[in-house]
Amino acid sequence: MKKVRIGLIGLGFMGSTHFRIYEAMKDAQIVALADVDAAKRKGDVSKVVGNIGNADNSKPLNLTGVQVYKSGFDLVKDPNVDVVDICCPTPDHADYIIAALAAGKHVFSEKPLCRDLKQAARVEKAVKNTKQFVNFGMCVRAWPEYRYTYEQFKAGVYGKVLTATFRRLSPDIAGNAWQNWFMDGARSGGALLDMHLHDTDLVRYFFGRPTAVTSIGANIVSKGGTDHVITLYHFDNGALVEAEGGWSAPRTTPFEMTFQIICEKATVRLMAEGFKVYWKNGRVESPKVEATTGWHKELAYFVDCVRKGITPDKYQTFDDVLDSFKIAMAEQKSVDTGKKVTIKY
Ligand SMILES: NC(=O)c1ccc[n+]([C@@H]2O[C@H](COP(=O)([O-])OP(=O)(O)OC[C@H]3O[C@@H](n4cnc5c(N)ncnc54)[C@H](O)[C@@H]3O)[C@@H](O)[C@H]2O)c1
Repeated sequence: MKKVRIGLIGLGFMGSTHFRIYEAMKDAQIVALADVDAAKRKGDVSKVVGNIGNADNSKPLNLTGVQVYKSGFDLVKDPNVDVVDICCPTPDHADYIIAALAAGKHVFSEKPLCRDLKQAARVEKAVKNTKQFVNFGMCVRAWPEYRYTYEQFKAGVYGKVLTATFRRLSPDIAGNAWQNWFMDGARSGGALLDMHLHDTDLVRYFFGRPTAVTSIGANIVSKGGTDHVITLYHFDNGALVEAEGGWSAPRTTPFEMTFQIICEKATVRLMAEGFKVYWKNGRVESPKVEATTGWHKELAYFVDCVRKGITPDKYQTFDDVLDSFKIAMAEQKSVDTGKKVTIKY
């Protein structure tokens, strides 16, 4: 069986996470790596820190047989690469996606799609004009508890949604990343675009397009970014849906990703008590889900699709990823203006 050959751009927290996932796959092989940082080009990840799922980074990654580049624009032209996986900081996603598609590669890019609406329009044009496959790291769609809930909800098992709340709270990540880029709002888009986007995306994925958003936010730890945000999503059907995200708690605080969705027939919670479904008739259920991460599921699926030549549309379409990006941009506008913002799709 021919392995899918991966070229990875950026070997920080997410790049090293993807590296280890591909390394353990029987159907994939990392053949190229690009990073602007000389230490990373030797596989040294000793300074890499993330907010969840941290691995032991004390030993260098094994780059035997991996062609190493300084620039991702050289990597995308490597004839041995089938898939370009983009894990560099957000402002460079758009140019790398467009260059990789122009070079005839399939693309898996980390979220967010890109940094602003102008870049998003350029990416949209490139994606709409290609036959290559493109998926983004909207990993929470594939995270087992969220996935289970999504599938049951969409099958109508719980009935109509009445209220929903999603929360994603991280300890302070200042100093974790390359050049501390998360703490520069102009580069990262703050916790709003970088982290809370996952919940914005879940709202869109579960319940369809909100018509407008009302957001409040605070700048606490970064230079100019929205470090904490609370958003009310307006829906024509009257469902009360809100989400909160932030990264300004002390470093010793645990990472929290939680939700509660109240529907006509049941309430589903991923909270301190675990993952549970509370039925209207009094029954309490603890669904069993696979002990894995959304990162493993989304990459395994994408590699499988590339290998079989099947369009990877199980977890996402480009249009709904683009919708989520536009909603997040509207949330930032609402924070900035103090007003409810109607979303232009
Ligand atoms: N899906 C998730 O759960 C998740 C989690 C964390 C980060 N992310 C996303 O992954 C991306 C990377 O974040 P991170 O936490 O790994 O950051 P990081 O700072 O830890 O790593 C970035 C890496 O990219 C390299 N780099 C910087 N500019 C580059 C360029 N122009 N070309 C090639 N390499 C370059 C850096 O040297 C570094 O090794 C971001 O877009 C972030 O939003 C996603």
